[in-house]
Amino acid sequence: MNNILFSGDENAFQSWLTAQSYSQCILLADAHTHGFCIPLLTKKIPALSTASRIVIPAGEEHKNIDTCQWIWNELENINADRQSVLICVGGGMVTDIGGFAASVYKRGIDFIHFPTTLLAMVDAAYGGKNGIDYRGYKNELGLFRHARYLYIEPAFLQSLSARLIHSGMAEMIKHALLSGEDYWQEIQSYTAHDFCLLSSIQRSLGVKINIVQQDEFDMQIRQRLNWGHSIGHAIESYSLNQNTPLLHGEAIMLGMLYECCISETIFGLSSSIFQTLLELQQKFFPQLLMNYHFSDILPYVDQDKKNNQGYRMSLLKAPGECVVQTLVSVQQIQDVMI
Ligand SMILES: NC(=O)c1ccc[n+]([C@@H]2O[C@H](COP(=O)([O-])OP(=O)(O)OC[C@H]3O[C@@H](n4cnc5c(N)ncnc54)[C@H](O)[C@@H]3O)[C@@H](O)[C@H]2O)c1
Repeated sequence: MNNILFSGDENAFQSWLTAQSYSQCILLADAHTHGFCIPLLTKKIPALSTASRIVIPAGEEHKNIDTCQWIWNELENINADRQSVLICVGGGMVTDIGGFAASVYKRGIDFIHFPTTLLAMVDAAYGGKNGIDYRGYKNELGLFRHARYLYIEPAFLQSLSARLIHSGMAEMIKHALLSGEDYWQEIQSYTAHDFCLLSSIQRSLGVKINIVQQDEFDMQIRQRLNWGHSIGHAIESYSLNQNTPLLHGEAIMLGMLYECCISETIFGLSSSIFQTLLELQQKFFPQLLMNYHFSDILPYVDQDKKNNQGYRMSLLKAPGECVVQTLVSVQQIQDVMI
């Protein structure tokens, strides 16, 4: 499992890093985080200012095998050996691909995550799932391996656009709904600023930690975190392949809305959950529309890794009550889409 440090713990991190005696620290960033976040990081942790750097293109469309090859070539060019550490500085795209590239390079070198988006802080950078998209499908290639350290620094969020802040908020809303009525009620009154507070990030991340620690390898309980993701990932892949990519959290917001409707059909989830979620969507994601065609989305739902003798989804009975591996028929999906 990850060690986690929070803003203000720079000295503890620096002491730990020194004690590891890594042969080389290598910073991995994308084109945006290289400009926005590396200067802040090296100011806080001066020992990293002399580290080698690998910079990859930004965007989900680059979370692929070509970018991995670029990373591996660069690691070889700078003579990274098995005692090197890759320090991933970025959103979920960088932490996913960086963790994957590091995990297979020379059979695995250590990696550390400095998440720089809200979504990566509360979700993507924790939990050991690394991977890349392949042949148009989300996270088709990947493995489980934890970062040695996860460092949460909300100051990185200062350069993040409102759209990207909102994208992270979707996963926090998901965590609140998975947690139970109290957190769900509380989060409904949060402003965008509230979502970005260190205390809010810690609370949201805490929900994920609690679930992952019960089921590290995603056999059962961890699949609760996939609520909203069967349809959400399908919409994300579809939008990417249409060259109109949605952000991950935007796709998950839509996925949660659709899966609320399926949850109502199968488990009698109260329609008030859908209504409140719709209000949050209209407040923070007014550009999103539930206008996806069943025939466009179903081929991508087919690729969901949870499927087993039919479509399997994590669905809600109530806030705090998520039932994993629920069998859903094609008709039940069709009924909630156009
Ligand atoms: N491994 C997991 O458990 C897990 C969980 C959830 C999501 N994910 C993955 O995370 C990815 C989405 O992550 P994301 O939403 O962070 O997107 P992202 O990493 O693509 O970042 C979005 C954009 O923000 C820019 N950016 C990042 N930090 C910035 C900063 N501080 N200031 C300015 N610009 C900045 C990036 O360069 C990029 O252009 C998806 O690939 C998704 O599949 C993984």
